[in-house]
Parts: sequence; structure tokens; C-alpha cells
Amino acid sequence: MLNIIICVVLAYSQTTNSQQHLNQIHNNNTDLQIFEILIVAPNNNSLIIVENPHILITFYQKECPYSAQFIEYELNKLQEDGNKFNVTFGLYDVAKTEFHTHQSMNKFGIVETPTIIFFQNEVPHVFSGKKKSHIVSKWIQEFFNGNPPPKEIFTESEFNQLLEDNKNVLFYQKNSTSTFDINFDKFYQFAIQNTIPEIVFAFSSQYQKNNLFSLKYYKQETKEEFTFNYQFNLEYIKKFVLKYSLPLIPQLNSKTEELVFQSNSFSFILFYGLDEISKQAELAFQEVAKTFNNSYQFSKLNIQDENYLEYIIDLGVNDGIIPKIVTINGQFKYKYDGPDFSVTGIKSLIFKLKQGQIDSYILSEPIPDYTHKNSYVKKIVGLNYDDEIKKSNKNILLKYHVKNCELCVELESIYEQLAYNYREDKSLVIAEIDIRLNDFTDAYYPRQTPDIILFLQKNGKRQAIFWNFEEMTLDLIQIFVENNIHQVNQ
Ligand SMILES: *[C@@H]1O[C@H](CO)[C@@H](O)[C@H](O)[C@H]1NC(C)=O
Ligand SMILES: *[C@@H]1O[C@H](CO)[C@@H](O)[C@H](O)[C@H]1NC(C)=O
Ligand SMILES: *[C@@H]1O[C@H](CO)[C@@H](O)[C@H](O)[C@H]1NC(C)=O
Ligand SMILES: *[C@@H]1O[C@H](CO)[C@@H](O)[C@H](O)[C@H]1NC(C)=O
Ligand SMILES: *[C@@H]1O[C@H](CO)[C@@H](O)[C@H](O)[C@H]1NC(C)=O
Repeated sequence: MLNIIICVVLAYSQTTNSQQHLNQIHNNNTDLQIFEILIVAPNNNSLIIVENPHILITFYQKECPYSAQFIEYELNKLQEDGNKFNVTFGLYDVAKTEFHTHQSMNKFGIVETPTIIFFQNEVPHVFSGKKKSHIVSKWIQEFFNGNPPPKEIFTESEFNQLLEDNKNVLFYQKNSTSTFDINFDKFYQFAIQNTIPEIVFAFSSQYQKNNLFSLKYYKQETKEEFTFNYQFNLEYIKKFVLKYSLPLIPQLNSKTEELVFQSNSFSFILFYGLDEISKQAELAFQEVAKTFNNSYQFSKLNIQDENYLEYIIDLGVNDGIIPKIVTINGQFKYKYDGPDFSVTGIKSLIFKLKQGQIDSYILSEPIPDYTHKNSYVKKIVGLNYDDEIKKSNKNILLKYHVKNCELCVELESIYEQLAYNYREDKSLVIAEIDIRLNDFTDAYYPRQTPDIILFLQKNGKRQAIFWNFEEMTLDLIQIFVENNIHQVNQ
């Protein structure tokens, strides 16, 4: 199968020079010392690989200019980095006749030279990127960062072993003859940046297990396999992997957040404590999740979790009632406080949600008592956004902010001063809203925090003008207001 080894020829070559160089590597021992490169051959490759737990072997052909070039220019630089990690370097001449009959080498599937293989504790990893020293170097680094790049599988037995040894395997099927494969690049990139523990990444071009160019997820626990059927991008791969690598009901946390809040359908979150009803609810929730596992997302959070408070504030359900189920569907949120947390009770909740029989709630701070004013800035909340902003017949300057954002905090006193300056102007309302604590629907949304939009009444119609200066200073906000209000009144 591997009788022909392609010699990749670059546009330019320095054959004579490189030829000499290679000859020197073989014939001149002084050079060997300088390079500290081990000559690997069929008679001693096994031993060398065992003796060197981290060895990078370059498989080359003497007559191939690109091989020579790689050795001459890239390997040199690579060695400097390699020494930091205690990596040894080897050279293997595949042109030697023995190579073709040598099974243990053949299995690496060397179809072109140079081919770079890094053996970590005897396990081979074939380098598949651009053969430049800094790229190879970065690749090697990842092994030492405890984040090894995907493993190449060569035979069926290796594949079976892989599934036996690992709980979660993400496997990409390559086409052995195609060197350009954009999906593989995406898979590879994802694997290297992966932040999800307990997943092993592997691929194969030599051994064909699946349809070419396919990505599959293998789950050891249930012996299930799932095929990735979405557009090949990092985000979708992440969602796919998350879904199957997580338990049926994962804890709500920063890793699962995206899956929970951006589900395509109903996403149910159980907030629970240590009381009896909570325990019962947890068991029933588990049962229900089994039934609906393919349709909906389930997650849970215990009152003792360090992020508990943050999430219930974010969701606007910080009312002390526990257990409770919060359901998210797109921009709509639903709250269930019981009383029935049995399997039937939860199923009936799901049924009613599907029938549209439950009203969503609006995330909102309480409506302020405007008669007791302690600020010239009018505080708007989710519950009165429509009345105060959309249906108002006044001009409104609205500031969007969140708690603890540095720029928002800086802007606070400036904005208060501005509101004070305009306190006599009955046609203009200076208002603000915390967008983390309040939901609203409008055609106009802030583009960042803090942000400012000026809503103007023009011939009975509402017009929105977005903040268009860099810095939010008192002078600039005043200029922004004056310019726009006067334009309208002209
Ligand atoms: C090895 O190479 C060095 C430097 O190129 C040269 O000075 C030396 O004579 C060579 N040694 C042999 C044994 O060819
Ligand atoms: C491996 O064997 C080859 C060929 O016999 C020899 O040239 C080379 O020096 C050996 N390598 C080592 C590290 O012993
Ligand atoms: C480098 O590797 C050798 C043998 O593989 C080992 O004996 C030595 O302790 C290692 N050194 C460091 C700094 O890791
Ligand atoms: C594998 O890749 C080669 C080269 O790109 C292509 O000609 C061949 O059709 C591919 N095989 C399949 C089954 O797609
Ligand atoms: C998920 O649901 C399917 C049926 O839709 C079922 O076969 C499978 O066992 C369930 N998985 C778990 C982990 O409960």
C-alpha cells in the first residue's frame, strides 16, 4: 500500500547544497555532534523510541530537496526550542530499501517526505500542519501543556483500544489521499483549544472506520455513537461535544452556561436545596429528563453552589423560594414554584408550557416609588419599560448600564450631574436602566455597556439617536443632547 513515497518539491530548491548537507549528516561525525540528531534506522528504531520518551523523528529522502531544506533550515531552529522540553531529535531515511518491508514504520502511513512524527512514551503523533519550525515547536509545546493534539489511529485494533480506554472520544475520519481538508483543520483547532476535560481526540486516514470527512462522538458509558451533522465550525463542534460529554443533568456553571441559556428549545433549570421536597424534586427531575433527553436541555444548581446567587439574580428569581424550576425558551422565561414536584407534576408543567398555557415572566427590579426621589435620574425597570420608554410622549435620554462595570461606575456621577442640569426641562427625561437585572423588548438595544440612546418625539413618532462620540464626558453628553434636540425642533 505504501510503495510510493511522494517527495514534496518546493518551487525553489537548493539541491546541490542540501545534498551536501545531508551527506555531511551521514558522513561527518562532527556535524552529528553539533546537531545532536540520532540516526534512526530499521535495526534500531524500536530501541531508540523506547530510550527516548520524547523524540521527534523526521522521515526524509535524500533525493528530496524539501527534506533537505527542512533539515537544514527548520530542524536547526526547532532543536533550540526542543532542548527546553528535553526532546530528542532523530532522522530516518525512508529511501533505504528496508523501510518498505519494515512493518512497524510502515504503519505510520508515511506518504510523503518530510514527515514529522513525535513519539511521546512510544505513542506516535503525526504532525499535519505547515512544516515551519515555530509551528512544529508550538505543536510540541501542547504535549507538555497536558493538552496533546489529536492522536492518529492506524488500525482497527488501535481504534477498539481507544474506545476501551477512554470515556469520551471525538473521532474524525480523514481521507488518506486528500491532504487538503478544511473540516479536519477545524476539528484539529478545536481539539487543541479544547477546554472540556475527559475528551480524547483522535483521527485516522489509514484506517477507515466511518464515512470520509465525518466526525463522531463515542460515549463509552452507554456504548452510543453520535454523528456531527452541523456546519463545521468551532462553536457547533463545541455545542455538540458538550451535549454528549455532559451528564444527563449537568450543573449550571460557566462551562454549561452556553448550552443552558442558548438552547434551541426549552431549557429547564432546577434550583434546589437540602430539604425533603428538593430531594424529591431532584429525583423526579432526573426521571423526566430521561424521557425528554433528546428534545430539551436539563440542568440544575444547588443552593450551596458558589454561583447560586449570581444565577438567580441574573434570572430574576431571587425570591427565596426553593425548589423551583426556571424554564428558558429563547427570550422567554417561565418560573415554576410548585407545589407538585413529582414526575407527574413536572411532566404536566412541560405539557402546559408546550401548550402555551403558562405566562412568561419579565426579569425586572421592583418598580421604584417615584414620589420619593433621591436622584434626578429616573430609574427604569423591566416592568415599566413599555410605559415609561415606548409609550412616553417625552424626549428621553436613556443610559444602559450594569452593576460593577468600570466605565458604568465612572459615568454615574457625570450622569447625575447632567440630570441635575436638566431638572427644570420638563420635555426631557434623563433615565437609566440596568440591563442585567431587567428584560425589555424594543426595536432599539444598546450596543455596549454603558451606552446612551436619545429617544425623540418627532411629529408624534419616536426616533432613536445612538450615542456617537467616543468618551462619555458631561460636556459631550450635553452637546449630544443639545445638537439633536435643536435639530428636531427646527
Ligand atoms: C566534518 O565537517 C567539518 C566541518 O564541515 C570539517 O571541518 C571536517 O573536516 C569534517 N570531518 C570529516 C571526518 O570529514
Ligand atoms: C542506528 O542504526 C544506524 C544504521 O545501522 C546507525 O547508522 C545509527 O548510528 C544507529 N543509531 C544509533 C542512535 O545508534
Ligand atoms: C531529560 O530526559 C532524560 C532521559 O529521557 C532524563 O533522564 C532527564 O532527567 C530529563 N531531564 C529533564 C530536565 O527533564
Ligand atoms: C479522497 O481524496 C481524493 C483527493 O482529494 C479524492 O480524489 C477522492 O475522491 C477522495 N475520496 C472520497 C471517497 O471522497
Ligand atoms: C435518552 O432518550 C432515549 C430515547 O429517546 C433513550 O433511549 C436513552 O436511553 C436516554 N438516555 C439516557 C441517558 O437516559
